[in-house]
Amino acid sequence: MVPNTRVWDAGVVGGELEHARDAKMGPQWRPEKDTCPMRIAVIGTGALGSALARGWRQAAHDVVLASRDPQSRRAVDLGVELGVGVGAVAEAVRNADVAALATPWSAIETSIGTCGDLGGKVLLDATNPLKPGLAGLALGFETSGGERVATLARGARVVKIFNTIGASHMANASGETMFYAGDDAAAKGVAAGLARDLGFTPVDVGALREARLLEPLAMLWITLAYKQGLGPEISLQLVRP
Ligand SMILES: NC(=O)c1ccc[n+]([C@@H]2O[C@H](COP(=O)([O-])OP(=O)(O)OC[C@H]3O[C@@H](n4cnc5c(N)ncnc54)[C@H](OP(=O)(O)O)[C@@H]3O)[C@@H](O)[C@H]2O)c1
Repeated sequence: MVPNTRVWDAGVVGGELEHARDAKMGPQWRPEKDTCPMRIAVIGTGALGSALARGWRQAAHDVVLASRDPQSRRAVDLGVELGVGVGAVAEAVRNADVAALATPWSAIETSIGTCGDLGGKVLLDATNPLKPGLAGLALGFETSGGERVATLARGARVVKIFNTIGASHMANASGETMFYAGDDAAAKGVAAGLARDLGFTPVDVGALREARLLEPLAMLWITLAYKQGLGPEISLQLVRP
């Protein structure tokens, strides 16, 4: 692993944003972590996308929020607040080592369609195939959202991850379990490292088809958090003997 010596690479971040970052954290600011900085495109600027971007930014990764409307006041302000770049989806993905998908299931085909060529990219699928109104999963048993994503994102090295816990954990985790599944061992290594950088304890669940287990697990989390009223701060923990 390359030592973490690289200074923040501005990427598509303008000088204005770099100044905003320096004003917040100081120009000498460096996080403590042991993975080398990666260029990450986070697709979707909502609750999950912004939390992932914040967490990876804190871990000194080179993050770009990929938005359908990167010029919008909301997207620009969010980029300044988080100290990350904001860009159009295809451009952000093209320049990234890793893309993280954080868009609604209802928009999955369009979201992946706007990414452009995903061949060879590590694609972290954090989506859940939810029915409207959190009424359950739109698919399962015979396939999963993760497998559907892999079919749509031709050639991408898909890892299902970041879907079984609430967004509020992403920027301040402290050892919570992060389950993940995928068919590409190297991509899974990258995903596990990025989970660790956020403060999670990654747990390998196996091949991508095991997303069929992880998506119902997300539904369990949603049911406990929202229907049973335990709140979004809960997490599902693997306890080893
Ligand atoms: N929130 C959580 O705690 C959580 C946890 C785990 C997994 N997830 C999963 O992560 C995904 C995103 O959840 P979220 O809570 O972040 O959703 P959200 O707050 O609604 O944000 C979704 C983002 O996706 C982008 N987007 C692209 N196409 C869209 C469309 N047709 N309609 C609406 N937004 C669209 C938007 O960003 P732009 O407008 O900038 O393109 C939007 O801000 C979902 O699949 C969810 O199941 C969420």
